[in-house]
Amino acid sequence: MIPHVREVTLASPAKINLFLRILGRRADGFHELETLIVKISLADTVRVMVSDLPGDISITCDNPDIPTGADNLAHRAATLFSQAINRQINCRIYLKKNIPSGAGLGGGSSNAATVLLALNKLYGEPLNLTQLCYLGAQIGSDVPVFVHGWPAALCTGRGELISPANTQAPLPSHCLLIKPAFPVPTPWAYKAYAEMAQGDSQRVTALARVRQFAWGELRNDLEPPVFAKYLWLPATVQWLESLEGISAAAMSGSGSTVFALLSPSADTQSLLNACYKRFSPSTMISLCQIGAAPTTSNN
Ligand code: C5P
Repeated sequence: MIPHVREVTLASPAKINLFLRILGRRADGFHELETLIVKISLADTVRVMVSDLPGDISITCDNPDIPTGADNLAHRAATLFSQAINRQINCRIYLKKNIPSGAGLGGGSSNAATVLLALNKLYGEPLNLTQLCYLGAQIGSDVPVFVHGWPAALCTGRGELISPANTQAPLPSHCLLIKPAFPVPTPWAYKAYAEMAQGDSQRVTALARVRQFAWGELRNDLEPPVFAKYLWLPATVQWLESLEGISAAAMSGSGSTVFALLSPSADTQSLLNACYKRFSPSTMISLCQIGAAPTTSNN
């Protein structure tokens, strides 16, 4: 018998946080947030194949540094999906990575959400978006925002409660990402925040940089604790903001990526040249569109 194999290939976009405000610590140890998340054109590719033959979940990744076992968020997504539909699934997941890890760009969360969407499609849409978001929230706070197709979303709770963002004015169209060779682990960043806040989020709020734009505020409350340890980051933000054509720069999520918002008149080639000249080859430099819709291809 020829096994019935079905597959789907989806883009798995990265995100940046244009606004991240921490409102306080919760009883469950997480932090209560208000964050404006926008998808960007930097994306991984996730290919998911399923077969009706008995089998298991496996992951192949083109980046050998990424663990492919049960701890991989994409693997956890497939396991949770299988439990939710009460069916053992034979699924192969291929990850083609462009989004760096430990970067504050949501790469692992986006891959997990994309696997949920792919499996749901391949199994005939047994779950609705609310159910997929519920599964996503069990994997990580950032997963539900990637389940929805909204290019910009306002996220609250620990980040898992999402609604489409309605900004007063259009968001900037392009950003320049600078990701150093070192990662920043998210749990460490929140721990450093809690130590700096000492139970009073106002202590850190007072230190956070806030820039006003027609679309809203650019701000990240995780900058003060993360910048205090990783001095390369504030130095890079300051340098980026000194360049003509850049309206502001900030850290994304818990870092280590910093992004610069380009003004409409920016000369992108000379900005890229300045970055190539300043940073070592181990630093990722990427010009991205903000709010780009991911491209999809099915088989
Ligand atoms: O939800 P996620 O797995 O991405 O969170 C990783 C870690 O970051 C959590 O274990 C927690 O330490 C911290 N975190 C937090 N408050 C949030 C989100 C994450 O303290 N809202």
